[in-house]
Amino acid sequence: MGLLESQQHSYEPRGKAAELMACTLPEVLMSGPAGTGKSRACLEKIHELAQRHAGARFLVVRKTRESLTEAALVTYEQWVLGPGNPIAEGPQRRNRQAYHYPNGSEVVVGGLDKASKIMSTEYDVIYVQEAIELSANDWESLSTRLRNGVMPYQQLMADTNPDRPTHGLKLRCDAGRCKMLDSRHADNPRLWDAAKGEWTIEGQRYMARLDNLTGPRRARLRDGRWVQAEGVIYDGWDAEIHLVDRFDIPKDWRRFRAIDFGFTNAFVCQWWAVDPDGRMYRYRELYRTKRLVEDHAAQIKALSVGESIEATVADHDAEDRATLARHGVPTVPAKKAVKEGLQAVSERLREAGDGRPRIYFLRDSLVEVDPGLAEAEKPLCTEQEIDVYVWAQAQDGKPAKEEPLKVNDHGMDAMRYAVMYVGRPRWAARSFQG
Ligand SMILES: Nc1ncnc2c1ncn2[C@@H]1O[C@H](COP(=O)(O)OP(=O)(O)OP(=O)(O)O)[C@@H](O)[C@H]1O
Ligand SMILES: [Mg+2]
Repeated sequence: MGLLESQQHSYEPRGKAAELMACTLPEVLMSGPAGTGKSRACLEKIHELAQRHAGARFLVVRKTRESLTEAALVTYEQWVLGPGNPIAEGPQRRNRQAYHYPNGSEVVVGGLDKASKIMSTEYDVIYVQEAIELSANDWESLSTRLRNGVMPYQQLMADTNPDRPTHGLKLRCDAGRCKMLDSRHADNPRLWDAAKGEWTIEGQRYMARLDNLTGPRRARLRDGRWVQAEGVIYDGWDAEIHLVDRFDIPKDWRRFRAIDFGFTNAFVCQWWAVDPDGRMYRYRELYRTKRLVEDHAAQIKALSVGESIEATVADHDAEDRATLARHGVPTVPAKKAVKEGLQAVSERLREAGDGRPRIYFLRDSLVEVDPGLAEAEKPLCTEQEIDVYVWAQAQDGKPAKEEPLKVNDHGMDAMRYAVMYVGRPRWAARSFQG
C-alpha cells in the first residue's frame, strides 16, 4: 500500500470482522443485527485481496442490480476506496460494471436479475450482500463461478441480517457447509469505544433507535437472532415464491391502485396489475411518512403517466379522499371487512391448481426510500411488513387470531383493499360454494 493510500484509508477490523478477514473457508456468512459493520468488512476484505493478489477477479453481487447500486457500491466508493480514489473514476455508479485496480485485479459488480452479465466468467472471491434474498439455487450457481484460481483460496462470502430460522442459508450454516460469524454492535468502532469500554455518542443514539423496535424485527435487527415471528397472519407467504423479478407489464392487463392514508405513519399507494388468469402483481409502491396528501396526489399522477388505471381504492377517511379527488386522484372506498380481507389475501398466497399463487410482488417496486423510516429501521415497503404481520395477543398472551396487531400494517391494509377490490380468486370462490 502506498503512502498516499494509507493516509486516506484507515480501517481496523474488530471482533468478527477481524475473523472474516482471516477466514479462508469456501463459504462464510457474516450474520448480525443492523449496523454492526458487516458490509463494510466484506468490502474491505475484497479491497485488500484485490491489492494483494494481482490479476485476481472478484464479484460483488446482490439479488438485484438496483439494490446493489443503492447500498454496497455507496459504501465501497465512499468508505473503502475513499474520495478521489482513481479506481472509482469512470462510469457513474448506476452504470458501473467493474472497478479496475492498477495491478490488474478487477471487482465486477452486478445483480442476479441480470445474471448473464456476471455468470459467464469466473472469480476468486464472491461477496453476496443481503444473502437472505437469494434462493438456494442462486447460491449454488454462484459457487460454480469460483474457479479463477489466481488466489490461493476461493471463497463465497456473504452478509445478512437474521431472518426466520428455517431459511435455507441458516440451515446450510447449521449443517456446517457454510461458516456463520455472529457480528455484533461492539465490533463497530463508530458505535462502541473499545478503549473506554462504552458506547460512543453515535452508538447510544443508534441503540436507542433499535430499542424502539418490537417483536421479531427487534429480535433480528437489534439482537441479531434468527427467530420466527409468533402468530404470523400470512403464514403462506414465501419470499422465494411471491417476490419476483421485474418484467414489463403488458399494456392490456388491468391496472389499479390501492391507498392507505397516513402522515406520522406511512402513506402507502400500491400499483397493481392483473393478468388474464387473475393473478395480481404489485409493480410500484409509494411508502412515505410526513407528506401532504396533495403532494402524494401530484406524485401519483406523475408516476402513472401513460398507464390506464381503472380505479383507485382507498381507506375511508373522507377528508383525505376529498383532497386526493380535488388533486386529480378520485378514489372508491375500500371494502374494509378485516376477517374477510385476511382470508382473501391468504387464499391468493396459496398455490392454485396450476401450482402458482394469485398474488405477486415485483422486486424494487419502491419509488424512494423514506429516510425517517430507514433511520428507525422500520419497514420500508409492503414486502417487509408481511412476514412480521401478526395477530394481537389475547389476555392469556397467545395469538387470538381475531385482530391483527396494529403495527407495521400500512402496506398490509392497502394490500387487503387491493385484494378485496379484485375479489376472491375464481377457484377459491368455487370451492367455497362446494
Ligand atoms: N471497523 C470500522 N471502522 C470504521 N467504521 C466502520 C467500521 N465498521 C463499520 N463501520 C461503519 O459503520 C457503518 C455501518 O456499517 P455497515 O454498513 O457495514 O453495517 P452493516 O452491518 O452492513 O449494516 P446493515 O445490517 O444495515 O446492512 C458504516 O458507515 C461503516 O463504514
Ligand atoms: Mg449491510
